[in-house]
Amino acid sequence: MTVFRLPFLLIICLSTSIFTAANDVETCSGIVPTTERTDRISITDYGGVGDGKTVNTKAFREAIYRIQRLRRNGGSVLYVPAGVFLTGNFNLTSHMTLYLANGAVIQATQDTSNWPLADPLPSYGRGRERQGGRYMSFILGDGVHDVTITGENGTIDGQGGVWWNMWRRKTLQYTRPHLIEFMHSTHISISNVVFKNSPFWNIHPVYCSNVVVRYVTILAPADSPNTDGVDPDSSSNVCIEDSYISNGDDMVAIKSGWDEYGIAYSRPSSNITVRRITGSSPFAGIAIGSETSGGVENVLVEHVNLTKMGVGIHIKTNVGRGGYIRNITVSDVYIQNARKGIKIAGDVGDHPDEKFNPDANPIVQDITLKNIQGEKILQAGLIKGIKNAPFTNICLSDISFYVPKTKGVPWECTDVKGSSLKVSPSPCSELISTDATGFCFNQD
Ligand SMILES: *[C@@H]1O[C@H](CO)[C@@H](O)[C@H](O)[C@H]1NC(C)=O
Ligand SMILES: *[C@@H]1O[C@H](CO)[C@@H](O)[C@H](O)[C@H]1NC(C)=O
Ligand SMILES: *[C@@H]1O[C@H](CO)[C@@H](O)[C@H](O)[C@H]1NC(C)=O
Repeated sequence: MTVFRLPFLLIICLSTSIFTAANDVETCSGIVPTTERTDRISITDYGGVGDGKTVNTKAFREAIYRIQRLRRNGGSVLYVPAGVFLTGNFNLTSHMTLYLANGAVIQATQDTSNWPLADPLPSYGRGRERQGGRYMSFILGDGVHDVTITGENGTIDGQGGVWWNMWRRKTLQYTRPHLIEFMHSTHISISNVVFKNSPFWNIHPVYCSNVVVRYVTILAPADSPNTDGVDPDSSSNVCIEDSYISNGDDMVAIKSGWDEYGIAYSRPSSNITVRRITGSSPFAGIAIGSETSGGVENVLVEHVNLTKMGVGIHIKTNVGRGGYIRNITVSDVYIQNARKGIKIAGDVGDHPDEKFNPDANPIVQDITLKNIQGEKILQAGLIKGIKNAPFTNICLSDISFYVPKTKGVPWECTDVKGSSLKVSPSPCSELISTDATGFCFNQD
């Protein structure tokens, strides 16, 4: 008997430690390896002046060109000290860290007259707002890898007001610039930075893999047009966590291209994790869509805290989009004060042009929404599938919304199939079945 005792105890110890590890808080660590860089230059070494008046475009471009040219082992840090460094747009390079010290502000110039243009994204076929090209992103990394943007919560300020006004006055010639964009890039880490007043979407990784966004603050007025927070687009292995977002459009929106252009380019977004996000927006907290023509799958959203919202969780697509939205899990969400708790709809968003294929129906399936609580929610849910392409395996469990007894029904559904368990108010008849052995509640 005693012979067996020791190995038996060992097994208990081992399994206990495995159990403890599994109980640790999950983080994005591991998606992008951490790189220590010893070589460091300061923007002031390249003539940078942080007086809020000097235009530092040349300083930023020369400093980054130097990092690109010298290729120091392990790369280099570009240090931005306290001060307001006004600049035009610039490009990042591989193996660099852009470090914003406490009190550092990189501020976009308001002179939009000479803003350079970029080609439209192939998966969109045109600018998102206007036909043709689009304005170059304020800070762009194209075809780069091993790039970090971090520091002591310094600010990247887009001074977007001039762009928002052009949009409001309908004088925009091309699609507005993003505050930060990475294209065709890998191993990108963005942390401990404040993003303020983006002209358009704030952080846009497109055709990227292994991207981490954590400990960031994103701020723009509630009435600023299209100031999306983080939009992973045709990208994989993206992790967004521990951030605060208060803006004028979707806080996070996962995308993958627009109608016939997105279908042809066919680059999905997959393996996306969004966790511990707090914030407020007149649009959606967490959105998928509406541009999802390359497909979106394997998305996990958890521990999200939303206040004063348009819609808590919004999955949106359209006829002509094609693509798919599948294997999506959203759990542990608290929503206070929203027009709608949940919206899943197949009639959202416009088309790039008239050449879209009206028979290209999107597939929406295997969507699990669980452990969601809401207070002051005007309508619990609107789930509106597509007539010839109903949304299937929509699973709702442990959801409770406090919906004031006003006009209207708490849940509205059409062209949807699925199940529900412990949902209050009681969901629409399409989802009322509690098939415990079916797809919905037989997982994990
Ligand atoms: C920045 O990168 C883009 C895309 O690669 C390129 O078109 C543009 O000329 C670059 N801008 C500068 C200032 O190097
Ligand atoms: C920066 O902001 C993050 C996220 O809000 C916070 O966790 C961190 O403590 C702040 N860091 C500093 C140096 O203030
Ligand atoms: C998604 O993650 C899984 C599991 O970690 C991995 O096997 C797969 O290769 C990833 N997919 C992509 C597109 O990177």
